Amino acid sequence: MQNYQDVLAEVLIDAESLQKRVAELGAQISADYQSADLLLICILRGGVPFMVDLSRNITIPHMMDFMAVSSYGIGKRESSGSARVTLDLQTDIRDRNVLLVEDIVDSGHTIASVLHMLSTRQPKSLKVCALLDKPERREAHVPVDYLGFTIPNKFVFGYGLDLDEYFRNLPFVGVVDLEKYKPSE
Ligand code: IMP
Ligand code: MG
Repeated sequence: MQNYQDVLAEVLIDAESLQKRVAELGAQISADYQSADLLLICILRGGVPFMVDLSRNITIPHMMDFMAVSSYGIGKRESSGSARVTLDLQTDIRDRNVLLVEDIVDSGHTIASVLHMLSTRQPKSLKVCALLDKPERREAHVPVDYLGFTIPNKFVFGYGLDLDEYFRNLPFVGVVDLEKYKPSE
């Protein structure tokens, strides 16, 4: 893999802005779920850095769990129709207040199918917290209850979002320079 500096067109959201917004979301969620028993569910792998930082900014007692889904056409930049659960939750969500934490809502298919699947397990409440939203790409309707940033239709990486599985660790969100990026075969 190339160094990120060689494929970065621009920093879209810097680390300071991310941390500030995540702190605001944490405060909002803490207020909204006061005295509710909150369960954060992270969608692997992109949601990890966001959920960890968010959790540290939530001041009420809460639990976390993790799940993974693969959309058909994994490895491609386009996600298609429906998602398949590849790693299920360890927690029974029945009668729990569930907040799904995701890196980005793009076409919306991933979140829409996860919401559908989790709703059949009869949680007390089920809401969505997404760091990023690309509304221009939306195909499936999804309610995003808590949102970090709305972004333009550009391929981004960092802070959980990957470029062919790399760079999830970066503390900022950057735009990929598709002219400079050379995917390995
Ligand atoms: P959706 O099902 O189209 O909403 O796709 C959501 C998933 O696609 C996200 O969870 C990301 O893993 C991935 N994705 C969408 N846009 C980007 C991007 O710009 N950079 C990295 N991953 C992305
Ligand atoms: Mg993802």
